[in-house]
Amino acid sequence: MILSRDQQLRRKAYEEIELNKDIVEQDPYRLKYHLMPPVGLLNDPNGFIQWDGNYHLFYQWMPFKTGHGAKFWGHYVSKDLVTWKHEEIALTPSEWFEKNGCYSGSAIGHNDELHLFYTGNVKDKEGNRETYQCLAVSGDGVNFDKKGPVIELPVGYTSHFRDPKVWEQDGRYFMVVGAQTSDLKGAVALFASEDLIDWEHLGMLAGGGKPPLNDFGYMFECPDLFSLDETDVLVFSPQGLKPEGMEYQNVYQSGYVIGTFEPVSGVFMHGEFEELDRGFDFYAPQTTEDEQGRRILFAWMSVPDQNEQDHPTIGHKWLHNMTIPRELRLTGGKVVQLPVQELESLRLGEAIEHKVVLNYENVKLKEVSGKAVELLLDNIQVSEGWFSITIGGAARIVYSKKQNLFSLERKSYVDGTVEKRQCYLDDLNSLRIFIDTSSIEVFINNGEETFTARFYPVPDDESIQFESLRNTSFNIKKWNLGNIIGE
Ligand code: FRU
Repeated sequence: MILSRDQQLRRKAYEEIELNKDIVEQDPYRLKYHLMPPVGLLNDPNGFIQWDGNYHLFYQWMPFKTGHGAKFWGHYVSKDLVTWKHEEIALTPSEWFEKNGCYSGSAIGHNDELHLFYTGNVKDKEGNRETYQCLAVSGDGVNFDKKGPVIELPVGYTSHFRDPKVWEQDGRYFMVVGAQTSDLKGAVALFASEDLIDWEHLGMLAGGGKPPLNDFGYMFECPDLFSLDETDVLVFSPQGLKPEGMEYQNVYQSGYVIGTFEPVSGVFMHGEFEELDRGFDFYAPQTTEDEQGRRILFAWMSVPDQNEQDHPTIGHKWLHNMTIPRELRLTGGKVVQLPVQELESLRLGEAIEHKVVLNYENVKLKEVSGKAVELLLDNIQVSEGWFSITIGGAARIVYSKKQNLFSLERKSYVDGTVEKRQCYLDDLNSLRIFIDTSSIEVFINNGEETFTARFYPVPDDESIQFESLRNTSFNIKKWNLGNIIGE
């Protein structure tokens, strides 16, 4: 029997999973409650949607190595954002218009069918790039029928033009695409359509050297425009920003601007850029609005080109994971992130609780340790000195009351030195911390700031240590958390 290119690629990818199952699963750094690739490299969340009763989360996937290349779309499905099932591969890079990768994109329901928009990436031998914004349609949410390119590169941009995000507003469809202008500035392009097939380029939505994003990097990846409380938010991942004080410390950034989008004119007036996360590993976030009207975000827990080849999981043939799902809200003109409420169902048993007072001490608290845990600290009072939590001897949270400075430190997986990410706070009242084997997500003051990172403790080190200079008090609850992959 002659297999189609798509069938061949699927078969090869499934063989790769089978072949490496044991080595992947034996990795002590494999996570318990985060979405990961079954083998190979995972990057951006794609096509995130609640459709026909299920949440669908697709992901950029390279099955054949722990590096980038001709990406597939892997596919996870869930009823509740907690327990996930791995679905059939959604897209393989089998056609001429996507032969070097089915790159990132989004999903929308239309006429009882699930529509995926994604970028077909094509490169020739000299490395010249072509880009096509493509459509694939499914009646069952599992098997997709490729319709091919629906948008070719408009004039005014280089072929770094990708990551379509589609939504419906006032009876029309809109699409934003991440772009680089011909004069090498990061930008977001805007399109509109009546039927999801014929798209009109309305122009540039943001960037391209226009204030307040003038001199703001050479490429914007993964744009996403949506409303929160009647305010419009554009999330995107700019490349080419230089570090400024405590900001823009990673190789590339992810953040947002807030403003007003006028669907008739296609004009978006907006303010300054704010980073979404202050940790080491957070990129290419994508959101969807679910049936309860919540705006939910997943992000890739890594950053492109940031020491990717040094992660210790590579020896176990896999690389990277998603964040936990987070609900976005707008508070005081700022986008805040909260773990979705459903994650409480991951808690195994009752909380361990302590009322803690520390004074020049370094302590472990009874039963507060573990690999997959949630910590909730509230009523935090730190006197003049500082207070820290050290996790597995390899990550450390420090809050200095004197400077109002919050830091996440980790032992570098490249050379073992201590590296940090920091931000100022007005005050520290509460901390919600999700630890999962080799990942940490910190939600400060109900999501006012978040710090997201991978870190690599000695595998058996499940310790959590609390230390304070001078007087610190807080209430703490700790839960062990369960697994998320179901049948
Ligand atoms: C962001 C990104 C996207 C692209 C995809 C390819 O991490 O570079 O712009 O579509 O990854 O995997």
